Amino acid sequence: MIIAILGTGRMGKGLVKTFYQAYPQDVLFSSRDQQRAQDVLSELKLNCTAVDMDEALKADVIIPTFWFRDLIPWAIAHKEQLKGKIVIDITNPFNEDFSDFTTSYDTSSAEELQKVIPESVVVGAFKNTFWVVFDAPVLQGIKSDVFVTSQSEAARKTIIELLKLLPFRVLDAGLLKNNRTIERMTLLSSEMARKAGSHPRISYNLWGLEHEGLTS
Ligand SMILES: NC(=O)c1ccc[n+]([C@@H]2O[C@H](COP(=O)([O-])OP(=O)(O)OC[C@H]3O[C@@H](n4cnc5c(N)ncnc54)[C@H](OP(=O)(O)O)[C@@H]3O)[C@@H](O)[C@H]2O)c1
Repeated sequence: MIIAILGTGRMGKGLVKTFYQAYPQDVLFSSRDQQRAQDVLSELKLNCTAVDMDEALKADVIIPTFWFRDLIPWAIAHKEQLKGKIVIDITNPFNEDFSDFTTSYDTSSAEELQKVIPESVVVGAFKNTFWVVFDAPVLQGIKSDVFVTSQSEAARKTIIELLKLLPFRVLDAGLLKNNRTIERMTLLSSEMARKAGSHPRISYNLWGLEHEGLTS
């Protein structure tokens, strides 16, 4: 399975490092500027390929690492190329000063993305994983959780299997509507971490789960 990570920002860098460690042969990296993607790969000392956006969109699993305001126009523009693909959505729809969300309580960015690309399968993941956590996802023996959501149980299982080689605990978190909560959990953890002085090294671990899979 070929995985394409799009965007050279903080999450793009964290994800490409982490996926490359698990799947060095299967990762593509892209950007609006292919040279920037190549420079980031050199900076991170990763021997994987920077490709243009058209090439990246041939992958089986696409991970755009954009802000929500840029994600939806991008998804609409690339709707045809995204058909039949799994698109992993990592976004939290923050407003300009990060004090709240631009979406209302009856939706989430994952659901809004699925609406504009109905012939692709959206899988929510990494929404609570702050960028520095990729460097060390285990704290005092406790792994950071990644909540995986999708309308498609098959896609959820595929991505859970894919992520199992990554150094996180990966949980089946059910349908996309659960992102109304999961995304807002990021807002909460961000505020609490700032007060505690530990921002941005913050993530969730749902205590008490004996098995990794939650039923949907
Ligand atoms: N930061 C976190 O800790 C964190 C945690 C969980 C989820 N997230 C989510 O991850 C997403 C990215 O966060 P980030 O912190 O990685 O942001 P960032 O550092 O600002 O990176 C965003 C990247 O999006 C790409 N991009 C594509 N189209 C764009 C456009 N039209 N305008 C501007 N940039 C565009 C750019 O990469 P190119 O220039 O290479 O195209 C840019 O570097 C957000 O939706 C956020 O909610 C972030």
